[in-house]
Parts: sequence; structure tokens; C-alpha cells
Amino acid sequence: MDIPEQFVIRERDHRIHDPFGPEKLARLGEVLGLAPGARIIDLASGSGEMLCTWARDHRIQGVGVDLSSSFTDSAIARSIELGVSDAVSFEHGEAVAYVDTYKGERYDVASCLGATWIGDGPLGTVDLLDMLLKPGGLVLVGEPFWRETPPSEEAARGAHATSIDDFATLPELVRSFGEHGWDVVQMVLADPDDWDHYAAAQWLSTRRWLDENPGHELWQEMRDELDHAAYQHVAFTRPLLGWGVFALMRR
Ligand SMILES: C[S@@+](CC[C@H](N)C(=O)[O-])C[C@H]1O[C@@H](n2cnc3c(N)ncnc32)[C@H](O)[C@@H]1O
Repeated sequence: MDIPEQFVIRERDHRIHDPFGPEKLARLGEVLGLAPGARIIDLASGSGEMLCTWARDHRIQGVGVDLSSSFTDSAIARSIELGVSDAVSFEHGEAVAYVDTYKGERYDVASCLGATWIGDGPLGTVDLLDMLLKPGGLVLVGEPFWRETPPSEEAARGAHATSIDDFATLPELVRSFGEHGWDVVQMVLADPDDWDHYAAAQWLSTRRWLDENPGHELWQEMRDELDHAAYQHVAFTRPLLGWGVFALMRR
């Protein structure tokens, strides 16, 4: 099993597959006060930038699990490049299956940034991560939220949602964590520049792929997507959608 090829086409050159730049990822690592040797599990770890840079900067140990074989290969290559392959490992696999079959030692930190569909939403993902967590451990959830409620379902779809109901506003999201029994103990939010960086890098990767792959079966689909991608971003995603990582501890 693997993710659809379109995701790899768009993000094959991304190190971070979410709207955080390297500075925000580094800030998140700093504000968590990670102890050397802390064990982190990252579900949907993408190209592994979080675990690799935190292993370098904070001497954590980590395991990443991701459904993309391409991104997992990139994560392994990055761990070697940064000299942290003894501290972090990456598996190609499905996150829920990993949790269901996991019988090892619990983790100090359990995270899922940008893939909360694995738990049918942020709260279900918190529950999933909790199954891997030591008592007193930290859960990290990266999740979009509406900066303002979209004026129409069409605007929500323009911002890559299937409906307005896909996401909460920031106050609703933070309140929902509390009502679910978790304290929000840290938070780092992306800003519109971070979104621009994440989205625009997709446009360039897609354009280069189109130039390199005439005749590919996905060519027309990716061409149609690129026709509208920049406009959709500035018209809908940029003004409407926020993104952040929330660090949670059980009350
Ligand atoms: C938006 S990216 C986020 C990646 C990474 N957490 C980051 O922030 O750079 C979503 C990731 O989820 C992975 N993914 C999607 N469905 C998954 C599943 N069921 N189990 C594990 N990984 C999954 C994709 O391959 C992709 O790497």
C-alpha cells in the first residue's frame, strides 16, 4: 500500500510536508524542553525532518511511520545526511496498523502532524497517539483550522476542504482538546508566509514534473491542477486556513 502518486509529484522536493518552515519546526522542538534520550514516535512522519533535526539538536531518539515509500526513503537518507541514523529509524507502514500491533515500550512523545485523518479527526488521533504514550507524556497534533469561517461551501472547497465542517476555528479546536480531557501546554502556529512557502514549492515541483514527464497518465490532471493552484491559494487557502501544532498533556 502506498499514497497516491500525485502527492509525491507535488511534494517530492519538500523536506517538511506541512505549512511549517524549518524555523517553526525548530521553535517547536525548543519550546517542548525535550530531554536528551527522550523517545518520540511520529505517525505519518513524511520525510522525517522533525525527528532528524530534533535528534541532531536535542539528542532525542525516534521512530517514524509513513505510508509513502518515497517519503520514507527520503527520511532515511536525511537521517544519514545529518548523522543521526543511530538515533532515528523510519518504517514504511500504515499508522493505525502500526498502533494496533505495537507491543513495545511506550513513548515520551507521540505525534501526528498534518495527517489526522488517521484517527478520523484530531480527537480520534489524540486517542490513537495516547495508546503509544507513557503516563505524563506529550501528544503533538498538527491540524488546520479556519482563521475565519468560509463564506460558502465553495470557498471551503477552494481551500482544499471537502466542507466547512472539515475544520474548526482555532477557539473551537483548542476548546475541544480541553473538553476531551487534555491540557494544551504548548502551541506553535504557521503564518501566511509559511503557507506560501509550503504551497508555492508544490507549484514548482509540479511544473518541473510536467516538463519532465510529457505523456504520463497523470500529466493532464496535474496540468489542470497547476492552472488553478496559485489562484486557489491566494483566494481561499491563504486568507481562510490556519495551521498549528498543539502539544497536549492528559489532565
Ligand atoms: C501532510 S503530510 C505530513 C508529513 C509530516 N508529518 C510532516 O509534517 O512533514 C501527510 C503524511 O501522511 C502520510 N500518510 C497518509 N496516510 C497515512 C496513513 N494511513 N498512515 C501513515 N502515514 C500516512 C503521507 O504519506 C504523508 O507523508
